[in-house]
Amino acid sequence: MAHHNHFLIAIKSMITALFFTLHCIEFSGAVGRFSAGGQKGQWQLLLNNTGVVAMHMALTHDNTVVIFDQTEAGPSGYRLRRRHNGNRCTESRDNLADSSCYAHSVEYDISSNKVRPLRLYTDTWCSSGSFLSNGTLLQTGGYGSGTRRIRYFKPCGDGQCDWRQSERSLADNRWYASNQLLPEHDRIIVVGGRRTFTYEFVPKMSSNEGSHELSFLHQTYDRSEGGNNLYPFLHLSSDGNLFIFANRDSILFNYRSNIVIKTFPRIPGDGSRNYPGSGSSVILPLDHTNNFQRVEVMVCGGAASGAHRAAGQNRFLKGLRSCGRMVITGNRHKWNMENMPGSRLLSDMLILPTGNVLIINGAKRGSGGWNNARNASLQPYLYNPNHKLGKRFSVLKSTKIARMYPSSAILLPDGRVLVGGGNPHESYTFSNVAYPTELRLQAFAPHYMRRQYHTYRPINLTINYGHGDLSGVRYGGDFNVSFWLGRKPSKVVEFSAYAPPFTTHSISMNQRLLKLRCKRLVRAESGLVHAVLEAPPSPNVAPSGYYMLTVVNGGIPSISQWVRFLHQ
Ligand SMILES: *[C@@H]1O[C@H](CO)[C@@H](O)[C@H](O)[C@H]1NC(C)=O
Ligand SMILES: *[C@@H]1O[C@H](CO)[C@@H](O)[C@H](O)[C@H]1NC(C)=O
Ligand SMILES: *[C@@H]1O[C@H](CO)[C@@H](O)[C@H](O)[C@H]1NC(C)=O
Ligand SMILES: *[C@@H]1O[C@H](CO)[C@@H](O)[C@H](O)[C@H]1NC(C)=O
Ligand SMILES: *[C@@H]1O[C@H](CO)[C@@H](O)[C@H](O)[C@H]1NC(C)=O
Repeated sequence: MAHHNHFLIAIKSMITALFFTLHCIEFSGAVGRFSAGGQKGQWQLLLNNTGVVAMHMALTHDNTVVIFDQTEAGPSGYRLRRRHNGNRCTESRDNLADSSCYAHSVEYDISSNKVRPLRLYTDTWCSSGSFLSNGTLLQTGGYGSGTRRIRYFKPCGDGQCDWRQSERSLADNRWYASNQLLPEHDRIIVVGGRRTFTYEFVPKMSSNEGSHELSFLHQTYDRSEGGNNLYPFLHLSSDGNLFIFANRDSILFNYRSNIVIKTFPRIPGDGSRNYPGSGSSVILPLDHTNNFQRVEVMVCGGAASGAHRAAGQNRFLKGLRSCGRMVITGNRHKWNMENMPGSRLLSDMLILPTGNVLIINGAKRGSGGWNNARNASLQPYLYNPNHKLGKRFSVLKSTKIARMYPSSAILLPDGRVLVGGGNPHESYTFSNVAYPTELRLQAFAPHYMRRQYHTYRPINLTINYGHGDLSGVRYGGDFNVSFWLGRKPSKVVEFSAYAPPFTTHSISMNQRLLKLRCKRLVRAESGLVHAVLEAPPSPNVAPSGYYMLTVVNGGIPSISQWVRFLHQ
């Protein structure tokens, strides 16, 4: 044993002698020249049948994906042998048509590329969700029997876990509501819903915890167009207030005291950005270089005004082409507008580890809702927020599979984007329709996944919290990472932490990406790199929970590892 220790110490001091201590970003040899042009990514077909429509998707920190649809669509593509109550499902005509003899939720395991059925007890149609700080998915609302339900999915890694329904209920019906995890420990705000002009908090502290009126939801409601303010976009600003965008308007809201702090200018142009208008939105990457104090939101696409009614008459109006960006911190607020390469709605906006934004799925014409859209948008767009105006968008490789209402997309730890869903019909319909029920699961692999970049790709990323504390890192605290790089790091090595969203209906609830401060970075001749990173300063910047940590070397990301930011 002693002999072994001596040996280790000797090796360690040798390695130390070989270290060149360097600043985190002062390296030579950029990969930058590869990141532009001609590289449009690749599509992969993962499964022909997920069993259920991916109306909702969320990535767990066990590297599985919870997928679910509504429960009342009748037969899905995943037949069960038994119902929840244990009763057998037979081949009888009644049983074959019985919704309870089919799965409406599955868990997809990324590494084995397989799904297993999960059991939902009440209808989750057009519901919402968010992860708690311990990695459990809290899911709220839905339709009918499910509209006031609170459900939990606690990931377990052994393929045994399932949905659990809480004894406590929501105060109001939540169908098409949005959720955001808040800085307060394990508090989630649930905002809006169809004919619900209030917000409330979950988990419930007591059984009679109620809801609060929000007149902004009345003001933005467009009755003749199906609302156009459903699934409002929520973004937590780093000052601890909540940005709420609905239809064309937005506010900064202090949810603790029910006070509207700011009313922002209306986004220019006609049309609507929220369901059934169905544009999408992100909070652009938050950056340590300004201490996370500059917060900018972006809203893209949506439906033309009158699109919902027109779709009911079989006229499919061209969707919106514009995007707006606005800084919501400070005191000067203006929407800076720019155009996407084409008109687009029903799309998902995802922040990639590089800090670029991917716009994927959806259609060019129509509105959200059943059978309301036409002309699938088959080409994803990539948006680089740091390029010059006019040079920010690029058009990526086309898929052959239309992803109409309601589809979804999420970022995976390996850098790919999982794409599923699409079923603009009341039940699963596979023939004689323009857009059949889509049960195929795909992955889009952005250009940075290409083999030619493997020599630039940081590998074997490991996180070390130190102090024998294996559960996470506290706000403002340091933590260490190590990884291996075959060649010298590029000019820019960045470290991003990404909150995995709950995605449905073109909204990615809770999604945010932080560019973390690197305090020290050393690379041994062996290629092993050690870096000391600083956790975000507060839960306003990053609510407590699991984040995907990625090292990005000159635009080429590593596989992400889960890092947990903890309350004091
Ligand atoms: C999906 O089905 C097609 C056609 O039957 C088949 O060629 C393909 O290999 C299948 N792909 C997967 C991933 O199962
Ligand atoms: C996380 O917290 C929730 C709510 O308190 C609880 O139901 C769940 O079991 C916890 N999950 C884990 C993994 O501890
Ligand atoms: C939409 O689809 C229709 C028929 O499928 C086609 O004629 C039309 O050119 C398409 N429009 C656009 C904008 O792609
Ligand atoms: C990376 O990790 C794998 C699996 O643990 C190991 O086999 C491999 O040698 C490691 N590579 C380097 C360069 O450290
Ligand atoms: C992180 O690495 C530094 C040296 O680079 C070391 O001094 C420190 O103890 C490490 N901290 C942890 C938490 O491992």
